[in-house]
Amino acid sequence: QPHFHFVNGVLHAEDVALPALCKQLGTPLYVYSRAALHANFKAYRDAIGERDVLVCYGMKANANLAVLKEFARAGAGFDIVSGGELQRVVAAGGDPGKVVFSGVGKQVWEMEAALRAGVKCFNVESLPELRRLSQVASRLGVTAPVSLRVNPDVDAQTHPYISTGLKENKFGIAIDTALEAYRVAASLPGVRVVGVDCHIGSQITDTAPYLDALDKLLDLLRALADLDISIAHLDIGGGLGIRYDDETPLAPRALLDKVFARLDASGLPPVQLVMEPGRSLVGNAGILLTRVEYLKHTDARNFAIVDAAMNDLMRPALYEAWHGVLAVTPRSGEALSYDVVGPVCESADWLARERTLALREGDLLAVESAGAYGFVMASTYNSRPRPAEVMVDGANWHVVRTRDTLASLTAGESTLP
Ligand code: LLP
Repeated sequence: QPHFHFVNGVLHAEDVALPALCKQLGTPLYVYSRAALHANFKAYRDAIGERDVLVCYGMKANANLAVLKEFARAGAGFDIVSGGELQRVVAAGGDPGKVVFSGVGKQVWEMEAALRAGVKCFNVESLPELRRLSQVASRLGVTAPVSLRVNPDVDAQTHPYISTGLKENKFGIAIDTALEAYRVAASLPGVRVVGVDCHIGSQITDTAPYLDALDKLLDLLRALADLDISIAHLDIGGGLGIRYDDETPLAPRALLDKVFARLDASGLPPVQLVMEPGRSLVGNAGILLTRVEYLKHTDARNFAIVDAAMNDLMRPALYEAWHGVLAVTPRSGEALSYDVVGPVCESADWLARERTLALREGDLLAVESAGAYGFVMASTYNSRPRPAEVMVDGANWHVVRTRDTLASLTAGESTLP
């Protein structure tokens, strides 16, 4: 994982030794590398070159204000899915004019907030949503810029929970009815068509599903041109996969070179390309640090019981996701096969299984590639305070979110008289 490396046998984030950080701030602890965020964004910039491409960070992957601020500084737009995410973009100094608003369940207040903020585009996922948006915009005396999110019915070859572009998924408007939906959009007073959108899934490591989807979208663009519905941008979503174990990550350049080639060969007038990458910008820019509380050796298995749990990092419990686990200060001595588990009262509460590690009580472990869909999916289940988040910057570090306090766990609750 770039920007996380061993110096004299001790894991560092950039130039910060992690044991000292844990001593000061406690565990579990999310640690992000500022340099890694910028390196990931630069991989997109370099692949884009002089082409007209807007990268809208899929901020659901990691919505910490400090992370958003770095991407805002780098010139990114944002892909949001709620009024809460819009509020974060504004708080981080992001440009609402570079925001696309996705999601199947936009509420009236969220539409109003996004219209008032002046977002770039609503990615509309159904006809009822389109009609509601038109009404809300008309009431405010504006027109809402829209793309229809088209469901191209391609198989992204990823985990069923994070695949979104199949016709049995709840997302988008089926490709074979999209033209008719655009006709409706063109007839409604409160919306104006600006684009076409799709997002086919997440942790995709092959270009083929993207290109299948793109071909279908280009056919749609041609049909729209015939109807005199003009399109300013084409949004191909996010989903580029990263390396957790031995996957070959899908580099932005590998995908974009092929996308540009198809766009150029399509004979269509040039359109702006929009992308919504989340995981590939932040996943490998973060780790989760945790301390071994107990080692428990049974006839069947060896357990390393750590102070992080499924409530802190849900991906293993929810998707059986694989995350690398490293000793922060690897020790010599006998290595055993451990299941790394948390204190929560569920058998699903594991972070890693059958990892060969030499451990003692009190050792620190780093769960790798935890920058995406880590903290954002954390809960306080079992009344466990959510971890602090730290951003390392060279030899400096900043607490970018404090650990939940015990008092915060009951804030807002009350009992009956
Ligand atoms: N755009 C839309 C409309 C999305 O639904 C998503 C992710 C993205 C962009 C960003 O996709 P990415 O580039 O991060 O793959 N919690 C799951 C992943 C859920 C992805 C949801 N949608 C996980 O931990 O693997």
